[in-house]
Amino acid sequence: MEENIFFQIDKIKSIGKNVIIGKTVRIRYPELVEIGDNVIIDDFTYISTALKIHSNVHISAGCKIIGGKKAFVEMKEFSTLAPNVVLSAGTDDYLSGIATPLVPMSYKANARIGSIIINKHCIIGAGSVVLPDVVLEEGSGLGALSLAKRSLHEYTLYAGIPARQIKKRNKSEIQFLENKYRNEK
Ligand SMILES: CC(C)(COP(=O)(O)OP(=O)(O)OC[C@H]1O[C@@H](n2cnc3c(N)ncnc32)[C@H](O)[C@@H]1OP(=O)(O)O)[C@@H](O)C(=O)NCCC(=O)NCCS
Repeated sequence: MEENIFFQIDKIKSIGKNVIIGKTVRIRYPELVEIGDNVIIDDFTYISTALKIHSNVHISAGCKIIGGKKAFVEMKEFSTLAPNVVLSAGTDDYLSGIATPLVPMSYKANARIGSIIINKHCIIGAGSVVLPDVVLEEGSGLGALSLAKRSLHEYTLYAGIPARQIKKRNKSEIQFLENKYRNEK
């Protein structure tokens, strides 16, 4: 593995086999990050939450997985983030409170620190944003430049701001290909 310039790889909580992490990836709390086998995290990605990445996951260039040390994000097998996706597992209160990390939580009104769970076979299109406490159920997808404020139903494709259902994904074909991949490995 290439030497990483923005964090110490040996501080990562756990890391599997065949993991590629771009040289310019920045992981703020590597001790809170678990990574499975066959994972790629492309350059210019920034991670500032606790994060569990299962096997066979791709995080494309320039993604931001944010929310702070107490927030949590999980990406299950065969899930993918296209470039420039923002997973915001925490958010300030945009109506009241002081919106800066420089003050204690007691000044931040209803700021939220939560989690984002991305289940198996989910795909998130380029430039999309996912807000705290959203669950992407298995096989759900989000088009490019979309905003997920609420959880997404399984094997359903959503798009737009806020994201709305636009199509069904092909569950049986995706599951068939997963089984084929596992059998042929
Ligand atoms: C979501 C997506 C896969 C849908 O593709 P598609 O099956 O060809 O969908 P269609 O073009 O038939 O669109 C269906 C409807 O959803 C709308 N729509 C599609 N993508 C949209 C998007 N990203 N945002 C808002 N609306 C979108 C279309 O305008 C259309 O609306 P209408 O029925 O009112 O005319 C595609 O548009 C997309 O966003 N892909 C992301 C690609 C990407 O980010 N790649 C990066 C590398 S992985």
